[in-house]
Amino acid sequence: MSSSGQYSALKGVQDILLPDIAVWQKIESISREVFSRYGYQEIRTPIIEPTALFTRSIGETTDIVEKEMYTFPDKAGRSITLRPEGTASVVRAYVEHHLYNLPSPQKFFYSGPMFRYERPQKGRFRQFFQIGVEAFGVSAPLMDAEIIAMLSVLFERLGLKGVNFELNSIGCEKCRPAYRKALQDFFSDKLNDLCPDCKRRYEYNPFRILDCKVERCIELRQGAPRVTDFLCEESRRHFEKVLSAITALRIPHVINPNMVRGLDYYAGTTFEVTSEHLGSQKAVAAGGRYDRLVQEFGGPPTPAIGFAIGMERLAALLLENEGVLAASPDVYISTLGERAAGEGFLVAERLRAKGFWVEAAYDGSSLRSQLRKADRLSARCVLIIGDDELSAGKVKWKDLKDGSQGETEMSGLTEFLSSLIVDR
Ligand code: HAM
Repeated sequence: MSSSGQYSALKGVQDILLPDIAVWQKIESISREVFSRYGYQEIRTPIIEPTALFTRSIGETTDIVEKEMYTFPDKAGRSITLRPEGTASVVRAYVEHHLYNLPSPQKFFYSGPMFRYERPQKGRFRQFFQIGVEAFGVSAPLMDAEIIAMLSVLFERLGLKGVNFELNSIGCEKCRPAYRKALQDFFSDKLNDLCPDCKRRYEYNPFRILDCKVERCIELRQGAPRVTDFLCEESRRHFEKVLSAITALRIPHVINPNMVRGLDYYAGTTFEVTSEHLGSQKAVAAGGRYDRLVQEFGGPPTPAIGFAIGMERLAALLLENEGVLAASPDVYISTLGERAAGEGFLVAERLRAKGFWVEAAYDGSSLRSQLRKADRLSARCVLIIGDDELSAGKVKWKDLKDGSQGETEMSGLTEFLSSLIVDR
C-alpha cells in the first residue's frame, strides 16, 4: 500500500527521519555539552540576509557566490539570499550589536540549515545543516589549538573513528601577495589549457586553481608552489605554535599545504577534518582564522576563528560506525474489551508520567493482531489487560526480548517494569 503521493521534496533537500534523526539529536545534545565547557553560547541568526553580506565576505569570485547562492528579490526589490553558511551572519550580529564591547573572548555556537545550489550527490545537498562555532577577540595560536581540541573532543565523545585532521596556514596580508604572484607565474604558460573557470580565477583568485575539480587543471597544477614555503616569519611562527600545542594534546594531524578553503575571508590557520568513508565530499568539518572580517564589516580590528560541521556527513559516518540506532517503545499495552481498553489508557498515562515510552492499542482489534503490532514496533515488553485481570487487580506481561512471561500486581506495576527494563 505505497504511493509516492502528489508532491515530493525538491531536488537536493531531504526530510530527516529515523534512524538519522536519533543520531542528529545525539550530535546536537553532545555538542551543546562540549561547547558549553569551552564557554560558547548559542546564537540564532536569520536564514535570510542581504545578498551583499555574503558576496563581500565569502568573496565575489568563489564558487559559492558565483554559482551557488539562492538569491532573489523580495517584494520591495531588495536582493535577499538564503544563507550559504553561518560565519558571515555571526560576524554581522557581532558588529551590529556591538558585542566587541563585552569582555573578550566572545564565543558563539549555532546550528541550522544552510543553502547552496550545488549539484546534489552523496554528502552534498542544496539544503544542509551545519553546527558551527565562532570565537572573537583572541589572536594567540593557543586559541587555534583550543578550537581544534574542542572539535577533537566532540568527535571523540561521539565515538567518531577514522577521521583525519588536516591543517594548513594560508598566510596573511604580508605573505599572501608573494604567493599569489608565484602561483600566477607558475600558471602563466599553462593559461590556455586551464578550464574557463580557472582562466578567470587566474586573474582574480589564483589560489582557487588549486581546488579545481577538472582533471586537466589537476594535472596542470602538479609541482605548483606551496603556500607553506611562502609564509612570513610571523605566520610561520604562529602556525608552528598551533602545531606544537595540538601535538602536545596528542591530536593526530597532517599538514596539507594544498588545502584551499572555498571562502575568501580566511587568513592564517585553516583546517579540515576529512574521512575516506565520505567519498568525494570528504570534509566533515572545516574552519579557520578570519582576523580581518570584523573590521571589514565596520567593527574594530578583532581576531576571530571558527569552524562548521556538516551534519548530514557526520550523521552518515556515525551511522556507519554504530549501525542503526533503533528507537522502540518500552511498553506496549494490549487490551481485551472496552472496560480493559479504558483502564489500559489510564495505565499508559501513569507509566508515561514515570518516564516510560508507552504505546497502546485503542482500536479493539484481536489480541493476536495487537501482539503482532507490538512485535513490529519492537516493543521491549507487552502488558495484557483483560476483564479477568482487571477484577483480580493483576496484569499479564511478556518480555519480548527473552520471551519470559507472567503476571504481576497492578499496584506494583511501575517498580516491576523498572526492574524488568533496567537498560532503558
Ligand atoms: P565550508 O567548508 O563551506 O565552511 O562548510 C563546512 C562544512 O559544511 C563542510 O566541511 C561540509 O561538511 C558541510 N557542507 C558544506 N557544503 C555542503 C553541502 N552542499 N552539503 C552537505 N554538507 C555541506 C563554512 O561554511 C565556514 N562557514 C566554516 C567556518 C566557520 N569557518 C570559520 N568559521
